[in-house]
Amino acid sequence: MKAKMTIAKELKVGNIDRRMFGSFVEHLGRAVYGGIYEPGHATADEDGFRGDVIKLVNELDVPVVRYPGGNFVSGYDWEDGVGPVEKRPQRLDLAWGTTEPNTFGTNEFMKWCKKANTAPMMAVNLGTRGPDEARALVEYCNLSTNTKYANMRKEHGYEKPWDVKLWCLGNEMDGAWQMGAKTAYEYGRTAHEASKLMKWVDPSIETVLCGSSSRNSKTFGEWETTALDIAYDSVDYLSLHQYYGNSERNTEKFLALSTELDEFIYSVICACDYVKAKKRSKKKIMLSFDEWNVWYHSWGAPVEKWSTAPNQLEDIYNFEDALVAACMLITLLRHADRIKVACIAQLVNVIAPIFTKTGGGVFRQTTFWPFERMSKYARGESIKPIVECPKYDTKDYTDVPYLETIATYDEEKEEVAVFIVNRSLDDDCVIDFKLLDFDGYKPVSFESMDGYDKLLVNDFGKETVCMHANELPVSDDGIFTANLKAMSFNVIRFKK
Ligand code: AHR
Repeated sequence: MKAKMTIAKELKVGNIDRRMFGSFVEHLGRAVYGGIYEPGHATADEDGFRGDVIKLVNELDVPVVRYPGGNFVSGYDWEDGVGPVEKRPQRLDLAWGTTEPNTFGTNEFMKWCKKANTAPMMAVNLGTRGPDEARALVEYCNLSTNTKYANMRKEHGYEKPWDVKLWCLGNEMDGAWQMGAKTAYEYGRTAHEASKLMKWVDPSIETVLCGSSSRNSKTFGEWETTALDIAYDSVDYLSLHQYYGNSERNTEKFLALSTELDEFIYSVICACDYVKAKKRSKKKIMLSFDEWNVWYHSWGAPVEKWSTAPNQLEDIYNFEDALVAACMLITLLRHADRIKVACIAQLVNVIAPIFTKTGGGVFRQTTFWPFERMSKYARGESIKPIVECPKYDTKDYTDVPYLETIATYDEEKEEVAVFIVNRSLDDDCVIDFKLLDFDGYKPVSFESMDGYDKLLVNDFGKETVCMHANELPVSDDGIFTANLKAMSFNVIRFKK
């Protein structure tokens, strides 16, 4: 197969917000307990934070982490997780059928964020609670006033406020599985009032309105426009969530799913701009894609009722999952003009790129690598290259390009990076790159992830699926040519 790609500065989509490479830690399974937090672990510091996990989080270079849920947040009383640990109650978590010990809470998370070089993205409970508890939490986290909740934080030993800038107004409030699920109208009203009060407490914060829990949600579209119509002036972002799986064992279809993701994002932008037009508003709502990933391997796995930190949602990812994750992230980058925050869900153990053994080691899942490479090199501006390549059809999708692509341009570093997934199961692709307005740029690295069985997974001490270096693309008369292997994720960097 042959392909051509043209990269030019005029093809700029938008500036890439670093928060595009965010992640998510929920009180769920072993994400917190046995994941980021495990007092007594060989690598734990004085706060009980696992050093081996922080090391890998730093490798991923995650600028923001959403917390504490997810479904969990819709029944969470944040007061249970602050103050002296011995006084904190154990609680039933109805979202996941487990017992929450509350030995890790808001202040522990804030401290962990500092140590992991990341920033918190807090979610408030708009399921079983409402605007009052939400505004109290903003005061607890962000204010230095001589008032009840700011003083409570100081009494808990944290004199300085945490200054949390980004806040989610609940989680997936359209879903019947959500504690306190709402109609779009009920949610719009609650979220608007919550956001209003939260911003009255701290006008420097930004808030995220819940969109649909996925594109397949029954009320998708109607939900976005109804909730936004009510809350438009008080919020900054609208959220999207999407997970994909391959339970049909149809790899061609699985790899094509990011074309659906592209349509999903486009429809949500249209919904936002429809409300903008209706209101004749000057304000543009940006998107927070705050849950995305592959999730299906762990579906239906049994969990002991009311146990603490059981093995939940522990997908072990194979090579084809990593390619799908790469396609998803490339697709998000193609919408860098509207998507300003995105969170791979989740960070550790629970459908995550990092996997630990409680009391033991840690390894990088296959999905670690596309995220790590894009977080490292997809900097500056997102550029949508012009690509000519063959296409294929599946039962559900037609005209799926074999190549999923994005380019980025980092003006400061004078670097162009190209990220490509070759979806073909059998055919390598010889691709010619033409770089317009990038005089003097030459390839400096060509790395790829390829040649593995599609079902191969990584394990403790056995991180077989990873990136490897290739010969640099050859140059002929200003055209650079590279060979992209069948089923591959490729990163090619050009520098001046
Ligand atoms: O990330 C796992 C779960 O997926 C989250 O709790 C929820 O928001 C979504 O349905």
